[in-house]
Amino acid sequence: MSQPLLAALQPPPADPILALGSLFAADTRPNKLDLGIGVYKDEAGETPIMLSVKQAERQLLASRTTKRYVGARGDRQFAAAMLDVTFGAATEASRIASLQAPGGTGALRILAQLLAEARPKATVWLPSPTWLNHQAIFAAVGLKTAYYPYYDTEQSTVRFDSLCDRLGSATPGDVVLLHGCCHNPSGADLDEAQWRTLATLFLERDLIPFVDIAYQGFGRGLDEDARGLRILAARLPELLAASSCSKNFGLYSERVGCALVLARNPREAEIAAARMTVHARTIYSMPPDHGAAIVRTILEDVDLLTNWHDELTSIREDMNEKRARLAEAFLQASGSDEFAYLAYGFGMFSLLKLSRAQIEEARAAFGIYIVEDGRINVAGLPVARIDAFVESILTIRKSPH
Ligand code: LMR
Repeated sequence: MSQPLLAALQPPPADPILALGSLFAADTRPNKLDLGIGVYKDEAGETPIMLSVKQAERQLLASRTTKRYVGARGDRQFAAAMLDVTFGAATEASRIASLQAPGGTGALRILAQLLAEARPKATVWLPSPTWLNHQAIFAAVGLKTAYYPYYDTEQSTVRFDSLCDRLGSATPGDVVLLHGCCHNPSGADLDEAQWRTLATLFLERDLIPFVDIAYQGFGRGLDEDARGLRILAARLPELLAASSCSKNFGLYSERVGCALVLARNPREAEIAAARMTVHARTIYSMPPDHGAAIVRTILEDVDLLTNWHDELTSIREDMNEKRARLAEAFLQASGSDEFAYLAYGFGMFSLLKLSRAQIEEARAAFGIYIVEDGRINVAGLPVARIDAFVESILTIRKSPH
């Protein structure tokens, strides 16, 4: 008799972001504050559906007559529209393969799968720190990962010189994951000159960039946030990109993303698209349709597009305003400019300098939920609670941990 099938399995470690959500849900304190998973919230703590999305859904409800399969590659018009949003006119569209994927994570996984078959021996270099799910996605397809220095937690700045030094000694053919904008978890982005330096470095060292652009539109603007990716795309022969509509369209639960591959020529792009289609077919067969149909409807309709741009702009401005207020509140309460970096960050996230014990204390004593790496979702902090939040954090920082 063999062992029972499940006897060899161990329970996995808790997912640091998702487990926090479960703890929060179980917390009965009325004043609890969830700064964990990255969703945008209004002052009332709600994550409303965008009006442009509602409008597109009404149109779809009225016009759709079937729920037939969309095919493993998904909706090609959606993917073509996303290609445009992401790459703009940076390079020839015929060199880019695009595939509708279930969320940004689905796109990352499909691209990881493509990498694993195209270059199984490559190391995927991840920024330190990075999104807590990145390493697991590459490990799941058997790819090796390593980290390059990205963010200096003490100085609250990008460690660009160390980054270049480390990648300068990567093995030719390796892959480098970059956050296109709104670095998760630090909110610290590269500037244009740094992207140009990277393009040169990647060319010289024969490294392949893999850009995760899950937050396009949340930093400086839709085109501005894609500038780094476009600088690379204009100069390099090959590049991978994973984009997401979770944040910029607020379509979190609909799972809408796009896997994009820049190839040396249209023939190789077509092969990449076909290979990705095979991977999709064996993992989930076909992507969910509704969310991508919403995005396509918006991107193809001039009025809806204008409305969506306006809504996205107001979300971005609101987040930036919150950042400025948070930095100011820390300055007022602490008398130190140590927290000024919070105002200069981009997107939803920033890191607080807190130990694991202090992060636990924030939860136990104040009901404040912060990810274990010190990441806070600034977009989840109501303006009316900023002062109390700042006071709690400063109190915790005085405790002897
Ligand atoms: C986050 O980092 O909070 C988001 O990307 C959501 C997720 O799936 O973790």
